Amino acid sequence: MRLLSVRLIVSLVLGITLVSSGFSYYEVLGEKRALRSDLERRDEILGESLVGNVERSWRVPSETAASDKELENLVQRFGNREHLLGVVIYNRQGTVVAMTPELQKTLTAIPATVSLAMAQGREESSFVRLGKMPVHILALPVRRQDEVLGGLAVVHDVSYIRAQILLVWRQTFFRVLAQVFLIVLITLLIVRWSMTGPIARAALWMRALRTGKIPFRQEVPDLDMFRPLAREVATMAESLNHARNAAENEARLREAGESMWTADRLSVQLRTRLDGGHLFVVSNREPYIHQRNGKTLDVVVPPSGLVTALEPVLDACDGTWIAHGSGNADAEVVDAHARLRVPPGDPRYSLRRVWLTKEEEEGYYYGFANEGLWPLCHIAHTRPLFRAADWQHYQDVNHKFMEAVLEEIENVEKPVVLVQDYHFALLPRLIKEKRPDARVAIFWHIPWPNPEAFGICPWQRQLVDGLLGADLIGFHIQSHCNNFLETVDRVVESRVDWEHFSALRQDHRTMVRPFPISVAFADDDAAENGNHGFNYLQRAALLRNLGVEATFMGIGVDRIDYTKGILERFLAIERFLEKYPSYQGKFTFVQIGAPSRTHIKRYHDLLAEVEAEAERINWRFQGGKWKPIVFLKRSHSHQEIEPYYRAADLCLVTSLHDGMNLVAKEFLAARKDERGVLILSQFTGAARELRDALLVNPYDIDQTAEAIRAALEMEPEDKELRVRRMRKAIKEHNIYRWAGNLVTELCEVRLDAPEDEHEKFRATVSVA
Ligand code: G6P
Repeated sequence: MRLLSVRLIVSLVLGITLVSSGFSYYEVLGEKRALRSDLERRDEILGESLVGNVERSWRVPSETAASDKELENLVQRFGNREHLLGVVIYNRQGTVVAMTPELQKTLTAIPATVSLAMAQGREESSFVRLGKMPVHILALPVRRQDEVLGGLAVVHDVSYIRAQILLVWRQTFFRVLAQVFLIVLITLLIVRWSMTGPIARAALWMRALRTGKIPFRQEVPDLDMFRPLAREVATMAESLNHARNAAENEARLREAGESMWTADRLSVQLRTRLDGGHLFVVSNREPYIHQRNGKTLDVVVPPSGLVTALEPVLDACDGTWIAHGSGNADAEVVDAHARLRVPPGDPRYSLRRVWLTKEEEEGYYYGFANEGLWPLCHIAHTRPLFRAADWQHYQDVNHKFMEAVLEEIENVEKPVVLVQDYHFALLPRLIKEKRPDARVAIFWHIPWPNPEAFGICPWQRQLVDGLLGADLIGFHIQSHCNNFLETVDRVVESRVDWEHFSALRQDHRTMVRPFPISVAFADDDAAENGNHGFNYLQRAALLRNLGVEATFMGIGVDRIDYTKGILERFLAIERFLEKYPSYQGKFTFVQIGAPSRTHIKRYHDLLAEVEAEAERINWRFQGGKWKPIVFLKRSHSHQEIEPYYRAADLCLVTSLHDGMNLVAKEFLAARKDERGVLILSQFTGAARELRDALLVNPYDIDQTAEAIRAALEMEPEDKELRVRRMRKAIKEHNIYRWAGNLVTELCEVRLDAPEDEHEKFRATVSVA
């Protein structure tokens, strides 16, 4: 630092001196020029008035003596002016006619300027030296009519100009000195205030982070102009902190002999399993949507369980996520290959966007996937719609994604591709046909119905065939695997191996396995006992913000979807208040509902129905500052939802049918206080794991109403025991385990089906 200051000072001194001296030099030159031209001007005036007098006094040759005397007097009279050395008059021959006495000592011969003036017959002037003395000579011809009689010279001592210039130089020197001193001083002070201070603060802060003396995400100190640097440092510090925590955690786990799955364990696992290969995830929904609203560019994280689940996987291994670019500003932020790094601000993996036309999106996403397959697989009493045009778009879009995947894996050895969901049933086979060396899995995030139910789909054979292109098919629970294999058995020519849960079709084996999806359950989700007062206060504050006063609060978080049983839930709340009127004025249910797929009439209508139903029930019971249902109709971020989860007395998940339902798990992960009751539909995948929830049949309104009362009146010890057990289950079966198991299983699949298996299969077919 000291060396830096010395360098800075030396450079400043040199720089300022150089610049100041340069400017001063030009100033002095100007001053010199001004003094000289002032002198010339004065000499001219003097010379001209003198020459007139001389011409008048100049006599004919006969009167020379008298004339000389007169001229003598004339030069004496003019000769005693400031800095004037003297005046001299010469005749044509160059002989002195009259001369001031001071000049006689210095001027011994006729100056060349005078001779030139006489010869040319016009005024001449020059700066010359007489001995050591610098002088200015102005010479004028003396005439009578056109005849030049002689010459007149006015000689000025100009040493005063030199003296004046020296004085200016001296002043300049002191001025430059003062400037250098002041500028250096001011610069050093500025540097000290705006740089040294923040740098010192940053150094202290970074040291504290490095040594772990301050907690994670500590406020970044004010670093003024280094703010961009501060942001980078903050991110680095975060990673450092994260790495330290992970290492400590690993050590602790090893010590305790636990087999907990963490993001770090997943990354190690993925790297080992992928063995240098790269991981590709394909889904319809992208994790970040860029939306332009006027001049602002917003990044939206969609309310999708799939996004919640997959981000940690991509994070863990810096993979590539291929998805539909659905935002209106998505194309603005990608490179020439439609790629960008995400998450924005802290890029950890790549996102490749696939562009769809409006018609394609309409037919493939809204049409076949969400009006056909979604109700087909959920069996929630909304009739599936199968249109041939939608099916055509579905096939086209699957092809489009195949092309994008092939492009991404083009030069990648041993690529591992995880296809997601019902939007891409055809994709596994399409990829494998072109790249048999790729390991391809598809995870089906929604239920798989029984073969009879699935059988109404006109293109069931093509869908099942497309899926069987995969090396591995994952469902949330075993019964979906069973349903799928039964469907395979009925629909396509294949051999189902019930012992190993696989299907062999056209020499290709597909494994079918359950992988119950989950949430991250971070380390900082660890239990915090005895903080119940905090929840109580938070609950009151949250409700107050919503303009409601109540003692108890329930929470529901869903996309507005007919499979979620939101109307049934509202009916159960109505029934509960009807049956137990003492809770009127006391129990408020907050429903966070993200509008979803509203382009589809059924969803659009449902949104209106949900709103109307909440209003109807509120109208029936509300009074004063209390109402039974608060419907928050917009998508909320995880950060916004978390306080509701933490403060609620109960969480209601009443899906009519659900692959897994991550809300149930998110609620429990948020309950570090080990309180709160989960009321969970028995028709969710989550119900298989979360046996300590109050399981309900959402169609049974009375049963759900009773569950609400039971939840509110449950003994604290009972709540604690249940939440603790369920949190343990989620902690052990978190999203990292899900991804780790899925990838491990996929990497263990033998891509070359054993010969004897083929033989057996052929034998079976020929017997059949
Ligand atoms: C279900 C599907 C997911 C999907 C989510 C949101 O959970 O299984 O794949 O991401 O719904 O649906 P959306 O149509 O908005 O992507």
